[in-house]
Amino acid sequence: MVNIKQQVKDFYDQVGWQEVGEGVYQNAHYEDLRPVSRAYIHRCHLRLVRHLKHSGRFLLDAGSGPIQYPAYLEYSRGYQRRVCADISITALVEARRRIGPHGLYVVCDIANLPFRAEAFDGAVALHTIHHLPEGEQLQAYGELFRTLAPEGTAAVVNGWPGSRLMRWAEPVMHLIRRVKGIGRRLAGHRISESEPDTASRPSYIPPETWNKVGGTPKGTFTARHDAAWVKSEVGRAMPVEILVWRSVSVRFLRTLVHPWLGGRLGLRLLYALEERFPHWFGENGQYPLIVIKKSF
Ligand SMILES: C[S@@+](CC[C@H](N)C(=O)[O-])C[C@H]1O[C@@H](n2cnc3c(N)ncnc32)[C@H](O)[C@@H]1O
Repeated sequence: MVNIKQQVKDFYDQVGWQEVGEGVYQNAHYEDLRPVSRAYIHRCHLRLVRHLKHSGRFLLDAGSGPIQYPAYLEYSRGYQRRVCADISITALVEARRRIGPHGLYVVCDIANLPFRAEAFDGAVALHTIHHLPEGEQLQAYGELFRTLAPEGTAAVVNGWPGSRLMRWAEPVMHLIRRVKGIGRRLAGHRISESEPDTASRPSYIPPETWNKVGGTPKGTFTARHDAAWVKSEVGRAMPVEILVWRSVSVRFLRTLVHPWLGGRLGLRLLYALEERFPHWFGENGQYPLIVIKKSF
């Protein structure tokens, strides 16, 4: 267990939060930053705001990273302080560069939060709980709930282990990638398919040996639970609602969304559909928004 967390921490300290461009981190490899997808991605990031209280004393950002996207700043806009909690010191140093005195920065494990009960008026945890060993994920949800003030909301974003919607899209994606591959080969280009790597890597490889075992890793340990688990296990301990955060994967976006294919309009339509059927897209798309309300 400890090795998994050490591996995750080493990865983010030494790889994930290294800047690879102006204000862009290695971790952005997992996001589609192309102009054609920008508006859609931004609006999906903002979806958390409508569930959070708009003002309060402390907002907890569990696994804050460096607060890497502009929309993330909106979550704590009306709060006195944003408490950035992360296992990676590099993440917190970068977060402080972004929000300075608006933030409080705490190196800690989100499965054992060092905060008193009911300390936060709101909480967010994006793409973080999946880095915990499977057996500790429920404990992390419990910690979010314990530290939430009455009437507060926690908004959690994580990928599902699989998505019905993406399975339906798979044959089309496969076809397009083959056609593109053939096109590139005919044009004499080397094919380099750089896909986000989300596979679990439970064994710990210390950073000093990375070079000996095939170079620096692109990703680190993840373990994902499905919707049935969230409803039964998390739902047993606290009230949860599964809504949509973003229903398509980065792979889908990079393969099928292009300006010459009407990509912007397509994404506007997709967003409108997600808004109309948030529960269906939440459970069947790639990334749910799990909303936990502490109402008494
Ligand atoms: C994929 S990044 C997401 C960062 C940010 N929430 C975002 O969406 O850009 C995951 C972050 O969670 C942190 N993390 C992973 N396991 C953690 C743990 N057990 N406790 C606290 N932070 C953790 C990592 O250091 C990293 O900064």
